[in-house]
Amino acid sequence: MGIAADISADWRAALAALAWQVEAGADEACGDVPVNRYELAVEATKVAAPAREQAVPDAAHATPAGDPVAVARAAAAAATTLDDLREAMAAFDLCELKRGARNTVFSDGNPAARVLVLGEAPGREEDLEGRPFVGRAGQLLDQMFAAIGLSRTSPDAETALYITNVMPWRPPGNRDPDAAEIAMMRPFVERHISLTDPEVIVVMGNTPLEALTGTRGILRARGTWTEALGKPMLPMTHPAYLLRNPAAKREAWADLLSLQARLRG
Ligand code: URA
Repeated sequence: MGIAADISADWRAALAALAWQVEAGADEACGDVPVNRYELAVEATKVAAPAREQAVPDAAHATPAGDPVAVARAAAAAATTLDDLREAMAAFDLCELKRGARNTVFSDGNPAARVLVLGEAPGREEDLEGRPFVGRAGQLLDQMFAAIGLSRTSPDAETALYITNVMPWRPPGNRDPDAAEIAMMRPFVERHISLTDPEVIVVMGNTPLEALTGTRGILRARGTWTEALGKPMLPMTHPAYLLRNPAAKREAWADLLSLQARLRG
């Protein structure tokens, strides 16, 4: 009886702890044994102190090797093909988000497409599959562009889409990448756009808007063509936002028609 009561109490406590973790954004089990990361941080400082070159980057992303943005810029500049760029991004170790990700999510679609769609960052499905926009928001994105005759699977540049994200690694709990993370990935985004050389860029959400213009406020910016990296750029609301706010689909439809008109020239 006593044992049964204990088991039941343990079970309830474990369930409550699990619910709390899910609430805090944890959505995957990555180990059977809990790790006290505060203790690890102290140990890492002790070990790393004499050999500063090996030190783990701190919260502000400073590294002994130098400025992460400068490192990213050099790596991106050295890439002369998309395969090079994919490799350079997969080898870039100065973004903390990489540590928690299963895959470096590079791109999907046809690199010859007239339209490049720039999203924010992979979610759970994208991280597992290694392709951008394959979850619910991605399905909506496909439907939206299909409505104006564009598809990531089209072999014809005229009707194709090329899709990538500012951040190739899934942030924990699907939080937005912060300003420092966006800044260090921007050289890769710039290189990605110069290598694919699309005719127009569609930015979906605040993260790509910030990466290309330095400002946020997608709800104000959406629908107004502007220029980024010497190319026409159309800001649109993110499909995940449209899933949460179906009434905003009306404006998104207007934006898609504006894109279609632009492509018809
Ligand atoms: N949201 C994004 O911005 N990109 C993805 O790849 C998936 C969801």
